[in-house]
Formats: sequence, C-alpha cells, structure tokens
Amino acid sequence: MTDRPMRLRRSQLSVPGVSEKMLQKGAASDADHVFLDLEDAVAPSEKRGARKTIVAALNGLDWGRKTRCVRVNDVTTEWCFEDIIEVVEGAGNNIDTIMLTKAMAAADVQFVSLMLDQLEKKLKLARRIGIEVLIEETSGLQNVEAIAAASPRMESLIFGMGDYSASQQMNLRGWGSEGYPGDIFHYPRFRIAMAARAAGLDPVDGPYANFRDEDGYRREAKYAHMLGFVGKWAIHPAQIAPALETFSPTEREVTRARELAAAYDKALSEGLGSVNVNGTMVDAASIRIVMNTVRRADLIGM
Ligand code: COA
Ligand code: MG
Repeated sequence: MTDRPMRLRRSQLSVPGVSEKMLQKGAASDADHVFLDLEDAVAPSEKRGARKTIVAALNGLDWGRKTRCVRVNDVTTEWCFEDIIEVVEGAGNNIDTIMLTKAMAAADVQFVSLMLDQLEKKLKLARRIGIEVLIEETSGLQNVEAIAAASPRMESLIFGMGDYSASQQMNLRGWGSEGYPGDIFHYPRFRIAMAARAAGLDPVDGPYANFRDEDGYRREAKYAHMLGFVGKWAIHPAQIAPALETFSPTEREVTRARELAAAYDKALSEGLGSVNVNGTMVDAASIRIVMNTVRRADLIGM
C-alpha cells in the first residue's frame, strides 16, 4: 500500500449534497477535505436530485487543493450502486475519494472497490479513486481489521460515534460529564486507530453535533488526536479552525523536532546510537516519535 496518496485530513467538512449555497461555502472554506453528502443529510425524496447537484458542484466550483470526497449511501440501500455510478460517470476526474457509510464487513468495501475498477476502466480515468470507510456499526467495529485491509484503494477509517452509539444501544445521558468513569468512546477510537495504522491508513474522528459548543468540540478532538487520529469532521464552518489547530503541531514543536532530528543524524554519522540534546535522550525509538512530527509538518507545509 505504499502508493497510497498522502492527504491532509485535519478538518473534513460535511456538506449536504442538496445545498448549492453550502457547496459553494465548502469549496471556499479552509477545510483540508470536503465530503459532499448523499447519505443522512439528504432526505430520501431528494437523493436522486442531489447526485446531479454534487456532479455540477464538483465540475463547476474551484476546490483549491482540497480532497474532494462523495459520501454514498450504504450497500444495504437501494441507492448505493447508482450513487457511485452517477457521481463517477458525471465527475470522475474531479473526485478523489468515495466515502462508504455503515460498512459491516470487508465485502462491503470490495463491492465499492470492484465498481470503481469497472468505472475507471470504462471512463479511462487517469487517477485511482480512493475509499474512506465509516466504522459506525457494532459489526463494522468487530470486522475493522478486515475492512481496513479490504482494498488497495483504502485510505482512511472514520469513527462515526452517532450511529455507532445507536448500533450498540448506548445510553449517552451524562456523556461528557459525570455519566461514566472514563471516556465512553475510548475503546472504539483506540481500536479504529490501531487497525488503521496497522494497515497504513489515516484514522479520522467523526462529527460533534453541537456546533456552538466549541469547548466540547475541542475536548473530543484532543482525545482523538492523543490516540493518533489525524483529524475530525466539521458539520459547520465554525468547527474548521479548531480542528486545523488541534491536528497541527505548533511552530515550536516543529522547530524542536527538526533540531532533534538533525542532532540524531549527526550522532549517527559519528557512530553514536543515542545523543543528549539539552537533557533529552534521543535514540532509535524516540526519533520515530520526532519524525512523526517532522513528516506531519512537511505534509502541512510548515
Ligand atoms: N457546509 C458549508 N456551509 C455551511 C455548513 C456546512 N456544513 N453549515 C452551515 N453552513 C453555512 C450556512 O449556509 C450559513 O451560510 P450564510 O452565512 O451564507 O447564510 C453559515 O454557514 C452559517 O450557518 P448557520 O446559520 O450557523 O447554520 P445553519 O442553520 O445554516 O445550518 C446545519 C446548520 C446544522 C443545518 C448545517 O450546519 C448543516 O447542514 N450541516 C451539515 C449536516 C451534515 O452534513 N450532516 C451529515 C454528517 S454528520
Ligand atoms: Mg452515520
């Protein structure tokens, strides 16, 4: 999976596929990644029309350097296959990834991957369209390792905590306060991050519905970031800036990481395996943590 494209996903903005105004706002936003939604933000009566609105927006708007993703309905619905056919036939050269909802098993991902194989051949598309998968069903979490490895198109796993908590019949009364001794989403987040990293994918944290509660958003983003997630969804433009900040290293951290990397390189060239940099020991293990920050800064362009 070494040819997987490296993309920024610090902030992924969800834009309902029915709203031309929001699609324009999404294209002009600072989010790294925008997904145009055909699933829950679109009422059943509007799904067919939304495909056309999304195709027109992908082909007509200037998306800058953003990753352009289309979120499709899940494989148990009557919409999934035509969602994929219509948006890829209509705008295949302007789609970077397809996001599959409510994946339950590797076969769900393979269905999407095989459809993309056929469409890319038929349309002679120059670039491979990637797949991002929402883990938001209990069976999806149980099968997360197989889902992560299901296709070379796989790029990311997203934790969809709303549907997930419904699927497990969790009781979220008291969530975020004194309701549970610990973080109720720790286990699914940890497991998704581990499965994603083991397969070379990006783990991404899902939505936070109360877009006026910035403190709550930042708290959840921070928890995900500490577990290795690369970003979090925004359902409203107000959530973009807090995600960009949370999932970027600070200038100070980047400067420090580059100093440590240079000191370690110098030590190696002198035949030393570990070095003292102002009271901090740097060796083969700790340099891996440092290099994660350096690579992230390079990707962001810091
Ligand atoms: N993408 C792009 N623009 C958005 C946006 C989004 N997700 N959410 C809001 N905006 C725009 C609004 O159109 C509005 O534009 P304006 O100032 O030109 O009028 C501006 O941002 C401020 O929005 P606000 O008035 O605060 O909220 P709203 O009542 O218009 O919208 C929601 C609130 C929740 C309906 C809207 O944010 C939304 O639809 N979010 C996405 C929902 C979604 O995708 N769900 C599925 C994934 S979980
Ligand atoms: Mg969902």
